[in-house]
Amino acid sequence: MSQLLIEGRRCLNGELFVQGAKNSVLPILASTVLCKGECIIHNCPELSDVEVTISILEYLGCRVKREGNTITVNSDGIDKDDVPDFLMREMRSSIIFLGALISRIGKVRLSLPGGCELGPRPIDLHIDALKQMGLKVDESHGFMDCETVGRLIGTNIVLSFPSVGATENIILAAVLANGTTTITNAAREPEICDLAEFLNSCGARISGIGESTIIIEGVDNLFGTEHTVIPDRIAAVSYMCVAAVTSGEIILRNTIYDHIGAIIPIFEEAGCMVTNLGEGILKLEAPERPYANKLIRTMPYPGFPTDAQAPVMAMTTVAFGTSMFVENIFESRYKHVGELMRLGADIKVESKVAIVEGVKCLSGASVTATDLRGGAALVIAALAAEGITEIKGLKYIDRGYENIENNLCNLGAKVKRI
Ligand code: EPZ
Repeated sequence: MSQLLIEGRRCLNGELFVQGAKNSVLPILASTVLCKGECIIHNCPELSDVEVTISILEYLGCRVKREGNTITVNSDGIDKDDVPDFLMREMRSSIIFLGALISRIGKVRLSLPGGCELGPRPIDLHIDALKQMGLKVDESHGFMDCETVGRLIGTNIVLSFPSVGATENIILAAVLANGTTTITNAAREPEICDLAEFLNSCGARISGIGESTIIIEGVDNLFGTEHTVIPDRIAAVSYMCVAAVTSGEIILRNTIYDHIGAIIPIFEEAGCMVTNLGEGILKLEAPERPYANKLIRTMPYPGFPTDAQAPVMAMTTVAFGTSMFVENIFESRYKHVGELMRLGADIKVESKVAIVEGVKCLSGASVTATDLRGGAALVIAALAAEGITEIKGLKYIDRGYENIENNLCNLGAKVKRI
């Protein structure tokens, strides 16, 4: 089991090219099964979640080639209608293959995606919506056998919660359906816009992209295209937190300023100077010690993203003053708190609320990541801690952060993977 050794309290400075968005490339790769011919996807990060998605595509019979950050997929040879259990369990977001395969072959057998580190991850919104489009689902023994007689039928769907995954699955089910589908209360995350832009360049007819009401006019065929994935806004914010806790100065290339609009004021409240240099370049200059954030509520986009809660909490653990978080999206997304406290953080959690009393200095310890963004929080806190910190559970961090130790060393950190 590999782990990271991090020597903290070093001032980090430098430049970093932000990776492509994990939560964009995963649904886009899944949607290549809808296309005839070849899809060429650029700016794909090297992450274990991407590797799992490639394994699923290859299992289904697609020809997949990776050259650096470009992945080419030809799905003309699909000859399977199931996603094996061990791959479904590897990655919860493989549920996105439900909408993709139902559209492509009209049937699919999936195991129910395991819970995950963020608590139970229901898929009721996905299933209810697709049933309204004509999907038949037979659930037994932990498997779902899904089938549609003929093509799915476009219809009006209202989501009780703007679920990212459900919105994506409905879009993938609707692009080749008979008729028009309207999604009301759709998620508006930039990754959904990226997926919709990709599909439109394949010949889909999606309008209202980025709005709460999305309209998808079903077409008969989609054809392969070339697409560049948007930058990963959560990776960008995580590296901004790295600079903020090490009194550093960081230049991030390959960013989209508007995608982190809700988080810039949080860094400014913490005393950081954030400058949009244009052409996707962003600069952050940190104060000697960050100031507390009075109140951070996680919300659906364009609000403060739940994925940024753990990394920003790590920043507040060494801030001057008291910070308060309200986690409104997931019911148990504070698993990183116990591990941050092992590093000397002073945090109290009461159901959705976490109160962080900033301390002057954390102290290195042995900690374990239990989810992707919680793992990033431990790395950020370790960089601010006196002495050496050992972080286990790297498989979680490797799911979402490309080359994390190289990126940190390039900023002047002392990080070793053993
Ligand atoms: C996506 O997960 C992201 N994953 C998550 O990022 C992100 O935290 C989340 O959206 C919210 O932004 C990918 O895109 C691969 P949801 P998803 O459906 O689609 C409840 C990361 O760190 N819900 O918007 O699973 C659900 O339990 C990952 O990169 C239902 O109740 O998120 C949760 O409380 C972690 N029923 C809330 O909605 C459903 O059918 C938000 O979930 C679906 C969801």
